[in-house]
Amino acid sequence: SFLGIDLGTSGLRALLVSDSGSPLGATERHYRVSHPKSGWSEQDPADWIAALQGAVSELRDTRPEFATLKGIGVAGHMHGATLLDAADQVIRPCILWNDTRSHAEAARLDAMPEFRATSGNIVFPGFTAPKLEWVRTHEPANFARIAHVLLPTAYLNLWLTGEHVADMSDSAGTSWLDTGGRDWSDDLLVAGHMRRNQMPRLVEGSQVAGRLRPELLREWGLAGLVTVAGGAGDNAAAACGIGAMKEGQGFVSLGTSGVLLVARDGYRPAPQTAVHTFCHAVPEKWYQMGVMLSATDSLNWLAQITGASPSRLTSDLGTQLRRPGPVRFLPYLSGERTPHNDPLIRGSFTGIGSDTGRDDLTRAVLEGVAFGLRDSHEALKVTGVRIDRLMAIGGGARSQTWLQIIATALDVTLALPSDGEFGAALGAARLGMVAAGAGPVDQVMTSPATTTEIAPDPALRDAFDAGYAAFRAAYPAIRAAQ
Ligand code: XUL
Repeated sequence: SFLGIDLGTSGLRALLVSDSGSPLGATERHYRVSHPKSGWSEQDPADWIAALQGAVSELRDTRPEFATLKGIGVAGHMHGATLLDAADQVIRPCILWNDTRSHAEAARLDAMPEFRATSGNIVFPGFTAPKLEWVRTHEPANFARIAHVLLPTAYLNLWLTGEHVADMSDSAGTSWLDTGGRDWSDDLLVAGHMRRNQMPRLVEGSQVAGRLRPELLREWGLAGLVTVAGGAGDNAAAACGIGAMKEGQGFVSLGTSGVLLVARDGYRPAPQTAVHTFCHAVPEKWYQMGVMLSATDSLNWLAQITGASPSRLTSDLGTQLRRPGPVRFLPYLSGERTPHNDPLIRGSFTGIGSDTGRDDLTRAVLEGVAFGLRDSHEALKVTGVRIDRLMAIGGGARSQTWLQIIATALDVTLALPSDGEFGAALGAARLGMVAAGAGPVDQVMTSPATTTEIAPDPALRDAFDAGYAAFRAAYPAIRAAQ
């Protein structure tokens, strides 16, 4: 069997799959995010280890197949800075991907042309390099003790194997990687006041990172070698789980945040569009994605203030797709990444009349998120990619109404995977399979069966284009008003 671990922001999911990759059982353990100050977001790496230990003991006790474990892959939330001293002790809590304390440091690094030129990305406030600049300035004693900086997944790799080793997909989110050359950039490290010997060794996500430590083999009751793969950042792992490996294959994810991701067979960065360009978790592939920060979060917000559940709000709209109404919603409840890279912008409703009712607001929210995703699609088009069809995943994909709106706003067919496992934990298990020699990438990283396909409605195309143009025009205006 093989084990996939998804170290999420709110909890850890562990999935056991058979030798051929079919899901056998999964479990989750939750932990806290602490917010010591506004905009700060931290986690104690010891909580991740406790969650992993708890999840593994449950799978070991409930699944006999665990005894034949051959490989492990770890996926997880990206960009977090886990600082270790020379004895591999954690120096301070991990500063997470959604922590914005280092926005000034990010802007300063981003103004140095080498960062975009070599890392292929804007230095976003959530990325790792600006966090280390913040620690250097505000916690110099901690900074002086740093022997290694590990991303959260690499910290689990260390705990599993005893080695400082990270995969390319996650490392591309540090702002220290030469994303085209798949190696640490000495120039970027120097510019960020870091040294190469503080960085983990790099491997591809589907390659061997190391072997499970003998103490863990004993503790988990295993015999024989257990391979630990390089692993991946959560989005690259989700792409592996859904089989988005080839040029133009991808997904739209409607979670708290919204992601439009597409696999690429070459390195074609376009940092000026605020698209993220990262290494994929397999050799010689990259992926690109647009990230909007408030997707289902926008609908949940409306639900909270109207006192109706999100499913009630969407079902009240009926199933007939309609042309966008006069009300616009700008979904910037927590700022925006793609295309604006604007952590301070906040959302708005425009076009409200005395006849506007709750359904109009719901429709505006669903359309506003769809137009936000279209922003990401337009940004991705600048890189030359063609997207005809995307898998739709995440909690928001349960609403057919929303999917119809998104399909027409993007002019892309959406496919819904049948129920089952296809997320980052499955992708991580698949990386463990490839690393342990269970099969090559194209045999292991297959796409799930789909139940429904939702095609764009050509009759409403022009109306949605007009709605999108109005949506685009509103950003500069509300920016100026804030
Ligand atoms: C990607 C990103 C998130 C985190 C948390 O750039 O910030 O996807 O990995 O899920």
